[in-house]
Amino acid sequence: MRTEYSSDELLAEHAYEHPLALDGVPCHGGFVGGRYVSPRTLWRAPAIASWQAHLPAGELAAVLDPISARVPPHFPGVEQTKLLVRHGVTVPLVRILTIIALVEGFGGDVLRLVALPPLVERVLDPIDGTALTHLGALFEAHARDEAGHRRMWELARDVALDRPPIPKDLASSVTPAGSPRVLSEIPFDTEALILRMMGVLVVEVFAVEAFRWAREVLGDRTLFPRHDESRTLIEYIQQDETPHVGYLATALAELRCRRLAGLTGEPAPGKAVIDRARDAIVAAQAGPRHRANVQFRMNVIERCVEGHPRRAELMGDFGEALR
Ligand SMILES: [Fe+2]
Ligand SMILES: [Fe+2]
Repeated sequence: MRTEYSSDELLAEHAYEHPLALDGVPCHGGFVGGRYVSPRTLWRAPAIASWQAHLPAGELAAVLDPISARVPPHFPGVEQTKLLVRHGVTVPLVRILTIIALVEGFGGDVLRLVALPPLVERVLDPIDGTALTHLGALFEAHARDEAGHRRMWELARDVALDRPPIPKDLASSVTPAGSPRVLSEIPFDTEALILRMMGVLVVEVFAVEAFRWAREVLGDRTLFPRHDESRTLIEYIQQDETPHVGYLATALAELRCRRLAGLTGEPAPGKAVIDRARDAIVAAQAGPRHRANVQFRMNVIERCVEGHPRRAELMGDFGEALR
């Protein structure tokens, strides 16, 4: 199996029978044999599979499983969100969908702006034929995917809620995740790269809950006339996330099973470095950051139902609703 790919190959598209578009808005990806195919996966998908096949057994799971085990529940839950919409309180839903779109857009830029360290010097064991030597093109493909996702989430929102007014005060709710300084035994540029990749990987894995929530809420036929179209769009976006989790987990696993150049001259074992980075970021995202998010969204919901004629009853039912 090939392990070396050019940048052009990693960005190459399938020959689509027709591209994905909805309501005259061009999206990305397209259809082959009637099936949706994610953008830029002609060579990227087989390349990731090939790099993964060269990892020691269990290495990928060692990176991913402790993240998947800590996915926080979405707030508000599916039934809670539907209850609000049924009572005409749609602003919290519109806000969350718009913020997801904004965060998706940022997600790509966060990686495109990373200065790549000279990894052949920073990693003491050979890295030929790995995802690590292809990070520039992989970051570029990822950034282009997320720019498309920003438009697609906005489109799913506009299709489901029939072009709702968009609150203007959203930028302040999108603070990029801060990175803890936890890898002091390796050079700063390598620490920055690892924390950035791990931070995005944790967001990508945790997003499975947001996708489930969005599919179930927007896919409700009793609430949204165009439930089918918006749910399908969300499913396409989720399908596009597979290569993101794939290459990030692969590159981090490749570092985990190698020795890294340490600042003191002593090699730093990749396993200790990667596991510490992962555990610190998972703890922050699943803990304080998640709690702050829930609190913020609760405040928004309370503000939105303030003048509602059946406020007390609605908030009572909201508290009872299945998350
Ligand atoms: Fe995305
Ligand atoms: Fe993604």
